[in-house]
Amino acid sequence: MFHRPNRLKAGIVIGIIHNSIISSPHPSESRMSTIIQPAAATQPSARPRRPAVFGVPWRTPAGRFSGLKLVTLLCCIAPTPFIVGQWATDNLGGRPVHHAMLETGFWAIRFLILTLAVTPARALFDWPRVTMLRRMLGLAAAFYTFAHIILYAADESFALGFVLSQMLTIFYLILGTIATLGVIALSLTSTDAAMAHLGKRWKLLHRLIYLITALSLWHFFLTQKIDVGLAMVPAGLFVWLMLWRGAPPGFRRSLGGIGLLALAAVMITALGEAGWYALKSGINPWLVLKANVSTMRPTAAMFVGVDLALLILLVAARRVLKRRAA
Ligand code: HEM
Repeated sequence: MFHRPNRLKAGIVIGIIHNSIISSPHPSESRMSTIIQPAAATQPSARPRRPAVFGVPWRTPAGRFSGLKLVTLLCCIAPTPFIVGQWATDNLGGRPVHHAMLETGFWAIRFLILTLAVTPARALFDWPRVTMLRRMLGLAAAFYTFAHIILYAADESFALGFVLSQMLTIFYLILGTIATLGVIALSLTSTDAAMAHLGKRWKLLHRLIYLITALSLWHFFLTQKIDVGLAMVPAGLFVWLMLWRGAPPGFRRSLGGIGLLALAAVMITALGEAGWYALKSGINPWLVLKANVSTMRPTAAMFVGVDLALLILLVAARRVLKRRAA
């Protein structure tokens, strides 16, 4: 069912990056519910603030070294040498620029999803410190988006007039362009100064991340000519994130609640995939749905299920350890 099975580990990768940055919460740090949040806002106001726009990425706004931020920074950077290495060793296929463009687009989506995962991570793991990673993850999404567009222009031999006309006339590129304009707006206003200047409007503006992610996923779906399995995995995780946000606070913090939301996201992923094939290619949706209960090939719904099952296990383990330590 999948065109490029090696890249279907996407959903798992999201989980792995996410897991790799987990550490115990620091009680002294404050809670925020913003999207790409300036790191300074995560610190108690009594601490001295650094005047720099972003500060040193592996330090807290108070100037202390943060292993969590350093690991996250390395995870944000890692795809770049990986793609360059594949290119340098001729492992990026016959059209390396095109493939590098696809890879960066995929990483942009992954980082958008990870940015959205910060708020649930903070609530479910009782982990306020994770909030200080949001800006870094959001900027990583922006970095891979810009790389994606530059590589697209490079793939078209930098014929900028042609590139611009494509961006404004082809539907899936129009979606990508609107999403990119949103990413630019959020990046430019992700500084402490912009946050202070915009006040309450800042939070409203940064809610655009939901729309940006939805448009990016739509763009992703439309680029998948026949096989949509690759796009279904981040879409399924996005569905879970949206369901989580819409659920009542008590329900979405309970293990049963996140389990039910996971079940709903898996079912929506499976139904979405079957519906897409039925509408686009007239394939019998029942056959596509049946693939989800076969062990022949992993489906998008299975990847989403494994990711969310891993999340539930981690939340359960965290709560058990916390109870024992108390
Ligand atoms: C937030 C903005 C954007 C995101 C997150 C994004 C993401 C993606 C993703 C995930 C793919 C599919 C990669 C794959 O198949 O593995 C893709 C494909 C593509 N994107 Fe974007 N994109 C964005 C904006 C743009 C813009 C502005 C352009 C045009 C300038 C563009 C041009 C393309 C092209 C040409 C493809 C490949 C189509 C093909 O399969 O030949 N994208 N993008």
